[in-house]
Amino acid sequence: MSRMVIEGGNPLQGEISINGAKNAILPIMAASVLTGSECHIYRSPDISDVRVMGKILQQLGGRVCQASDENRITIQVESLATDRIDADLMRQMRSSVLLTGPLLVRGGSAQMTYPGGCAIGPRPVDMHLAGFEQMGARVDEQGGNIRITVPDGRLRGSDIHLEYPSVGATENIMMAACGARGTTRIYNPAREPEIDSLADFLRKLGANISGTGSSVITIEGAKLQGGTCYELIPDRIEAGTYILAVAAAGGQVRINQVCPEHLQAFLAKVRQMGVRINQAGEGVLEITSEGRLRAVDVLTLPYPGYPTDLQNQFMAVACTACGTSVITETVFENRFKVADEFRRMGARIRTEGRIAVVKGVKRLRGTTVRANQDLRGAASLVLAALGAEGQTNVQDIEPVDRGYTNLAGQLRKLGADVVRYD
Ligand code: EPZ
Repeated sequence: MSRMVIEGGNPLQGEISINGAKNAILPIMAASVLTGSECHIYRSPDISDVRVMGKILQQLGGRVCQASDENRITIQVESLATDRIDADLMRQMRSSVLLTGPLLVRGGSAQMTYPGGCAIGPRPVDMHLAGFEQMGARVDEQGGNIRITVPDGRLRGSDIHLEYPSVGATENIMMAACGARGTTRIYNPAREPEIDSLADFLRKLGANISGTGSSVITIEGAKLQGGTCYELIPDRIEAGTYILAVAAAGGQVRINQVCPEHLQAFLAKVRQMGVRINQAGEGVLEITSEGRLRAVDVLTLPYPGYPTDLQNQFMAVACTACGTSVITETVFENRFKVADEFRRMGARIRTEGRIAVVKGVKRLRGTTVRANQDLRGAASLVLAALGAEGQTNVQDIEPVDRGYTNLAGQLRKLGADVVRYD
């Protein structure tokens, strides 16, 4: 069991650089199954979700190697050894479901267990499976096991209407459509930047995709055989987490290799609270926070709305804002678990279904808390501790490793008093 011990009260100073995006590389690693050629992915973050996805690809018969130069990952799936995604690894990481689309294209079948992942709600895969069935696949579910086959040997293009702009369903169907016969249109797709980056990667493999970021994505089926080199977009959620760390602790920090266009709704909210955010060059933001911040309301929405993955981090800052913040979580059913831990630090939070009312207090008090939520809840406890009075012991901190490269080291580099014990 790993833990982080944080002595609150140090303002943050200095600069850091943002890594490649976790939620961009995971679908791109899955997409490498579509071609038997070598794919080089640059700016890969050093996080456990990437290692788990690499293990799954190796078990499927792929070769995965990480080179230290430019954080490069090389993947080549020359042939498939199986169509089954390992059940244990599936339980560890829900996004392994993204391999099903590529497996249906490459080998005509896929087997998996119901995905696990974070503790933020049921997170079913019904829209993924419905999309595959519409494209001619057959889905058999027996006792938690799912087997998908393609009776005609090749998926057929289809018009697919998503009832909700699911990120994973959009990505999975887009990858499946690359190998289908004819045209596929995805209506009401997700519009996250990570969808654009997956489409860019697929186009480099020879795919014909248009309309990402709009209300309809059109994919023409094609034979993908090329390999490619691809540089990841920056991780907007990692960037937002560090911006809220400055908001929580105070200070002035320069953040390099960030893409402000991907964070418009978020930056507007943080500015409303009183944090100063200035563009200090191409891909560089300067964050300044001093004194007590103002309470503002937040409603999480699919992109380009305020991102759900920065909701718990916002709550951490709202705990000591001046006034009352109303947080409405519209994307996941159960993403307020961290509130129980904030209350142990003296926060005044009332949650009712998808709404949390946070009454700002002057300061939180350090104590022992447990990061038994998803990785974003775990990171949020660290943020709350940075501004809290005294020492906070954050137990079971491992989930942060799923999405943050060396969080403790990065915060220490900015002057925080953070020690990690593994
Ligand atoms: C992606 O998850 C991200 N993960 C999540 O980031 C992010 O929170 C989420 O998108 C929303 O932005 C990756 O990209 C690897 P969804 P995903 O499908 O694809 C329901 C993080 O912390 N739903 O858009 O799983 C689902 O239950 C992670 O980095 C269905 O009902 O999200 C949820 O309530 C956490 N049926 C909502 O839609 C389906 O078939 C949004 O899910 C699919 C989804």
